[in-house]
Amino acid sequence: MLTVAEEFEKRRAAARLGGGQKRIDSQHDKGKLTARERVELLLDAGSFEEFDMFVSHRCTDFGMQDNRYPGDGVVTGWGTINDRQVYVFSQDFTVAGGSLSETHAEKICKIMDMAVQNGAPIIGLNDSGGARIQEGVASLAGYAEVFQRNILASGAVPQISVIMGPCAGGAVYSPAMTDFIFMVRHSSYMFVTGPDVVKTVTNEVISAEDLGGAGTHTTTSSVADMAFDNDIAALSEVRRLVDFLPLSHREKPPVRRSFDDPDRIEPSLDTLVPDNPNLPYDIKEAIAKIADEGDVFELQPDFAGNIITSFIRLEGSTVGVVANQPMVLAGCLDIDSSRKAARFVRFCDAFEIPILTLVDVPGFLPGTAQEHSGIIKHGAKLLFAYGEATVPKVTVITRKAYGGAYVVMASKHLRGDINYAWPSAQIAVMGAKGAVEILYRSDSSVAALTATRTAEYEERFSNPFIAAERGFIDEVIFPRSTRRRVCRAFAALQNKKLSNPAKKHDNIPL
Ligand code: HXC
Repeated sequence: MLTVAEEFEKRRAAARLGGGQKRIDSQHDKGKLTARERVELLLDAGSFEEFDMFVSHRCTDFGMQDNRYPGDGVVTGWGTINDRQVYVFSQDFTVAGGSLSETHAEKICKIMDMAVQNGAPIIGLNDSGGARIQEGVASLAGYAEVFQRNILASGAVPQISVIMGPCAGGAVYSPAMTDFIFMVRHSSYMFVTGPDVVKTVTNEVISAEDLGGAGTHTTTSSVADMAFDNDIAALSEVRRLVDFLPLSHREKPPVRRSFDDPDRIEPSLDTLVPDNPNLPYDIKEAIAKIADEGDVFELQPDFAGNIITSFIRLEGSTVGVVANQPMVLAGCLDIDSSRKAARFVRFCDAFEIPILTLVDVPGFLPGTAQEHSGIIKHGAKLLFAYGEATVPKVTVITRKAYGGAYVVMASKHLRGDINYAWPSAQIAVMGAKGAVEILYRSDSSVAALTATRTAEYEERFSNPFIAAERGFIDEVIFPRSTRRRVCRAFAALQNKKLSNPAKKHDNIPL
């Protein structure tokens, strides 16, 4: 007869084996790690505290009473990432395809509740065939319980989803409501209806990868933030991301010891902006040179490249950066870039992460495609997000700040706290040539005068001084001293207190 300790060890060993060695081998053959291997890689060595290892389903239909696995297809618990607490669930594809049963959902809900109560991020490693087919509506109810918790946790604790296998049907809506989605190339996909249903309904023939793979979701749909070649790369980047984030809305972002001098001068920034205002330059160079140790974590790098959203640290503290990128579409605001930046600004504001905005924007992208797809509402998202944000906001206009886009990009008028401009800044209703064409429309016969008038307009408005005279710019600064000025600005704002009028919640233009 087994002693209790032996029985315990035997049960633990069975639980650790999930759906058995054959299925584990098959998981490895697909280039995927198992649920437990993923947890081990994600968390600090030896930090994982598992819950509900012996939970199994209660279903007796379709012979399920003889088909029970301890843990029921999901590994849950908490651990640490660089000594900071996180809660994690990791779906085990070797057990009924990681499908979600009533009890599987209960395990996930338990750790979500604990994460919110204790103020720690939730990280979900998704690898699942969806609702456990044998359980019918009970598993749908389980999904709904998870969804409800995603909604209530939103803005309370950071939620990160890593898609590491199938994620289809309504199941996609749990990751969709989390803050960040990472995907693994060629082994993960997300779609509401798969290729077979698509073929039946629309007669389109498309592979799972093309319909909802990592490439599609990080370049076209923008459902996911980043794509990685394998499980290991994805999990190590989750660790890096978590290092930038506060554990909950109740906390300030983490401060990491920095060896980079906040007074560091970068003479190369003085020549970053070309003399010709029509030539592009790479704003990422400025971001890297401002950041502590040049360490930048860029989100959605493959989508809407005309705006950059990234996390950096200044004097060790996390700062969210939004920057127009002149290399792509001249850095204009369009639907995609407005949506991308708006969501980022709202994340930063929800979690008390100060925002640095680097502005070089010639305006909103013209065209029927933009107008008919609702640039008005989508552009308003970014305007709204900046205007409602109460975190410290520091803005640097590097070159163009034209028209409505000038106002949107964290201008003084949207409660920008400290607004700087480089001497190359041009703050105007529009570019000089366009302005002259409108101002002298009735006088177009005198073409020879256009060049003189353009030069006149440029002379008057293509500089930061008119705005500075009005106090819309607090100071014109040398590019080389941007890091020092911005570090000092955020230091001066660290005890900022600002709140919006009391209300149930706002009604951002969705
Ligand atoms: C129960 C499932 C399952 C499910 C897979 N399995 N999905 N068991 N419920 N939903 C089991 C399989 O029977 C198999 O068991 C094992 O998991 C591995 O599955 P395979 O098919 O062998 O693996 P693979 O070839 O890699 O294909 C994976 C798959 C496919 C593409 C996910 O299994 C599949 O299409 N499954 C059904 C997906 C689905 O229709 N789900 C319901 C979606 S609706 P054995 O014992 O052989 O290892 C939904 C609604 C959510 O989710 C609504 C929320 C509101």
